[in-house]
Amino acid sequence: MDNFTLNIPTKIFFGRNQIKVLGRQIEKYGGKRVLICYGSKRIKKEGLFQTITDKLADRGLYFAELGGIEPNPRITSVREGVKICREENIDFILAVGGGSVIDCAKVIAGSVSYDGDPWDFCLRKAAISKALPIGTVLTLAATGSESNGNAVISNVETKQKLPVYSPILWPKFSILDPEYTYSVPPFHTAAGIADIMSHIFEQYFSSTADTFTQDRLAEALLKTCLKYAPVVMENPNDYTARAEILWAGNLALNTLLSLGKEGDWANHAIEHEVSAIFDISHGAGLAVLFPNWMKYVMDDTNADKFYQLAVNVFGVAESSDKKTAALEGIDRLRSFYNSIGMPSKLSETGVEEESLQIMAEGAVRFGEIGTFKKLKSKDVLAILKMAY
Ligand code: NZQ
Ligand code: ZN
Repeated sequence: MDNFTLNIPTKIFFGRNQIKVLGRQIEKYGGKRVLICYGSKRIKKEGLFQTITDKLADRGLYFAELGGIEPNPRITSVREGVKICREENIDFILAVGGGSVIDCAKVIAGSVSYDGDPWDFCLRKAAISKALPIGTVLTLAATGSESNGNAVISNVETKQKLPVYSPILWPKFSILDPEYTYSVPPFHTAAGIADIMSHIFEQYFSSTADTFTQDRLAEALLKTCLKYAPVVMENPNDYTARAEILWAGNLALNTLLSLGKEGDWANHAIEHEVSAIFDISHGAGLAVLFPNWMKYVMDDTNADKFYQLAVNVFGVAESSDKKTAALEGIDRLRSFYNSIGMPSKLSETGVEEESLQIMAEGAVRFGEIGTFKKLKSKDVLAILKMAY
């Protein structure tokens, strides 16, 4: 285990009716003029928007809106948000939605006092040094963006989707009410679960030795997904199942699992190239890629880890033939994803074969990816071909 510092600065309000804290929390961080960021008009139809604006009105807080933020949020929405913040003297940003809305809100927050174009942060030409405070009301269990400093932004013109990280982009607070996730349709529920499991895998498959506690935590969260995914697919309004998945999603990417070890993150780098060009759902892309990555990178030096996953999480019987048992575990992962309606091939998602080479090169634009197994563009291409 490596040295680490634990600091999870986002305050989480979890459970029914936690929205009651909203106004007070915004005021606590100096918010008087709030930009509410959201995606489709869904939150207006469902009444959540009204609930939120009522809470703001109770405390006499002003609000402006940025609606229409796209899944795989675009840099154009970030620019629009920055413009509104400047025109309206916004001092607090509230994101209401899934990872896309939250990510967009974060980069807006970090760009308001920056003179250049926000895309500079994605290209690593500049680093975010100042940001407006952010709060979130999460409506989809998936990314963990509600309590981390990451954001991923797409640029349709350049066909790129690039991550931004800054410790000052962590939301000040996040409200996680499982009931807000009841309306998530089956496909996005399943894609969210695949994303959560992928975050766990990215940290589970680590080159760092002696991570017993971290591995058991990761396995517990994976088992939560396996246990509650079928329940939530069957009954979207099952509070317990929605709550377990929501909490697992938060714990999967709030840095807890990454403490004392190095994560891999190759699959995310590859998936971002896929969804940059074909605008597919992030979780669905990962559900296709991960089992193929596992098969590609597994060898005699690391098969023990895949065996451990197969036995501890997927219920494969212990065996002296560890490689065969490990492969059985990977097959069970594939079957699980299929059972919740995730695609098993990129060709099913509208991805075109001619683009695989471009994606493979894009994934390594900043150098080799992965730490559990380092990948060059030829390796990424091989994985993409297996996944196609
Ligand atoms: O526009 P709305 O109405 O919000 O619709 C969304 C969207 O169409 C819908 N949805 C969300 N909550 C709903 C709902 N529909 C009905 N009822 C609800 N309660 O679901 C669709 C997908 O939403 P989106 O926010 O795009 O999904 P997700 O949370 O999976 O976010 C995906 C984005 O986050 C990035 C991904 O790359 C992708 O761009 N990621 C961000 C990360 C981070 N910041 O830490 C890490 C992740 O690995 C990921 O890369
Ligand atoms: Zn992800």
